Amino acid sequence: LKHYLTTEGLSREILTEILDTADSFVDMGEQQVKKVPLLRGKTVVNLFFESSTRTLSTFELAAKRLSADVLNLNISTSSTSKGETLKDTLMTLEAMHSDMFVVRHSDSGAAHFIAEHVTPKVAVINAGDGRHAHPTQAMLDMLTIRRHKGDFAPLTVAIVGDILHSRVARSQIHALRTLGAAEIRVIAPQTLLPRHIEALGVRVFTDMEQGMKDVDVVMMLRLQKERMNSALLPSESEFYKLYGLSEEKLALAHPEAVVMHPGPINRGVEIASSVADGPRSLILDQVTNGIAVRMAVMSMSMSGQATEKQLQLKSGE
Ligand code: CP
Repeated sequence: LKHYLTTEGLSREILTEILDTADSFVDMGEQQVKKVPLLRGKTVVNLFFESSTRTLSTFELAAKRLSADVLNLNISTSSTSKGETLKDTLMTLEAMHSDMFVVRHSDSGAAHFIAEHVTPKVAVINAGDGRHAHPTQAMLDMLTIRRHKGDFAPLTVAIVGDILHSRVARSQIHALRTLGAAEIRVIAPQTLLPRHIEALGVRVFTDMEQGMKDVDVVMMLRLQKERMNSALLPSESEFYKLYGLSEEKLALAHPEAVVMHPGPINRGVEIASSVADGPRSLILDQVTNGIAVRMAVMSMSMSGQATEKQLQLKSGE
């Protein structure tokens, strides 16, 4: 890895290496992430043009556990608000000898754009771009699944809710396919499904009760109201009735099914509090696993060679 922009097109070997490297950072006895000197002397800049709690905090913690110096640029109080262009902001930060940019942006493709414009010494990690990709979220989800289920091969995984606007769903689907999950289902109203989603190798259900039958993992998604045309916005109570994960709907899944959600959660809209806080919920494990996964991606990115796809990106092919 050099840049880490998407899970799409990465091999099973690389995805497995990310998971194995993440595991290697955790002291399993103490369930604590160890501090290691892998990025000592390096400077990581968190460039978040969109709000975040989990991703920003765990990238900062991960960089610190790797012994890097970390700078969180507050975009709302930065010179971006005075009209400075993105390219000028990047050049300014590069002049401070930055080694890595961790980027979140509301525009799909923003992380690719930045990767194309930074100097070759800087690595770019995508922390979520528009509705395109959120690759570290997908990999912390894969780590959470692997820790609880062991192997991906026998698993039926359902991704439920606002698939249309979800960068998380896209990155999860690519990762689950590459890691060999038996079946990936998406469950959503027709209005919240991207066109031709079947082409990604998923089974589509518009009826949640049918889609939930015997699934091993239920991955709920947030309604991304900030990306929605108001005409598409479903009534929250209607959405919950049809697609909210209640205890009754969860009872249709496999008896040992686990429940996940990338957060932030809207209680009573996409998930009942009793399920989100219940014994089968892995939502807080996902947050914890984000530290080790982000350490893995940052350390592999800093030490690694560019993949073929990333070299193509550099040469503009
Ligand atoms: N899952 C996720 O990206 O959460 P934040 O928006 O809080 O970072």
